[in-house]
Amino acid sequence: MADTIRYDNRVAIITGAGNGLGKDYALEMARRGAKIVVNDLGGSGSGEGASHSAADLVVQQIRDEGGEAVANHDSVATREGGAAIVQTALDTFGKVDICIANAGFLRNNRFEDITDAQLDAILDVHLKGAFYVAQPAYKVMRRNGYGRFLFTGSASAMFGHAWQANYAAAKGGLMGLSHVVAIEGSAYGIQSNLLMPTAQSRLAAEMDEGFKEIPAFAATIANADYAASANRIEVPFNTPLVLYLVSEQCTSTHGIYSANSGRFAKVRIAAAEGWMAPMGTTPPSPEDVAAHWDQICDGSAWYEPLTVYDEFTAVAAAARKQGRI
Ligand code: NAI
Repeated sequence: MADTIRYDNRVAIITGAGNGLGKDYALEMARRGAKIVVNDLGGSGSGEGASHSAADLVVQQIRDEGGEAVANHDSVATREGGAAIVQTALDTFGKVDICIANAGFLRNNRFEDITDAQLDAILDVHLKGAFYVAQPAYKVMRRNGYGRFLFTGSASAMFGHAWQANYAAAKGGLMGLSHVVAIEGSAYGIQSNLLMPTAQSRLAAEMDEGFKEIPAFAATIANADYAASANRIEVPFNTPLVLYLVSEQCTSTHGIYSANSGRFAKVRIAAAEGWMAPMGTTPPSPEDVAAHWDQICDGSAWYEPLTVYDEFTAVAAAARKQGRI
């Protein structure tokens, strides 16, 4: 198939692009015409240390292939770092069209043992780090009337993973951030989506298997069916979805998308139709809730509100369906 998805005259910031997923996005987007800011602090998979070589090597590879890229070595985890990353794009290429917030690392531990250092470092790099880069990038995009954000979430937050309470809290926060950027950005040609990638990267080495001490969780690992996944839990199986989501051709915003073993899928935040209490100003009792628990949890009809206010419309629809109004 011809490469119709291109980024000529587009400037992309990709954080954490010195390794793994971000590196693959950077190389492929540069091949398709994007000018890339390759940001990477160059630390370990647990966020220790720093080195220029990770970002520099990717920039060198892009240039060797005839593409355009510049390295930035700031940490996303400070407001100054985020501002400097966006400034690198402005100084070198004059604008920002695409921002992929991807930088991060792991500090796994059982929930009750997570230290302040493990909590703060993970919130700082994933949640605040994405915020610090996205905010100045958004201002530039708003001025130009065009932008594409992709925040990197995780199945660990959306579905759950033992020993990752700090990480899941941060990644879950990015869902809220992406939703709000999508809503506000809709007035200015700015789109935002959340990605749930799946790849054997160097982060696999950070996955201490202590989490298998939880019996129900260990059972989901033991019983998982990997029939569709052999040799496909790989970085390049994520890149096609990312490239589409940040392209001009993609008009979808406010979404969550999963890439896993070559299966690409929208993930929904939806509310069941639920049980509508009788109309009037007397609230139901907890016993009423217990008595209708099956209906409250019934998954045969779902609504997908896109704002807080959409949920009221879903409630009215449920009330009509149940003959309350
Ligand atoms: P990776 O370790 O190969 O790449 C992450 C990059 O971020 C590294 O090059 C690292 O130096 C950089 N980085 C870390 N802290 C930074 C900071 N403060 N400032 C700038 N750069 C920094 O890992 P991978 O797997 O490519 O992860 C990329 C993103 O995808 C991460 O946000 C990760 O949490 C997320 N993710 C990965 C999954 C997977 O299966 N590999 C699953 C779900 C989410």
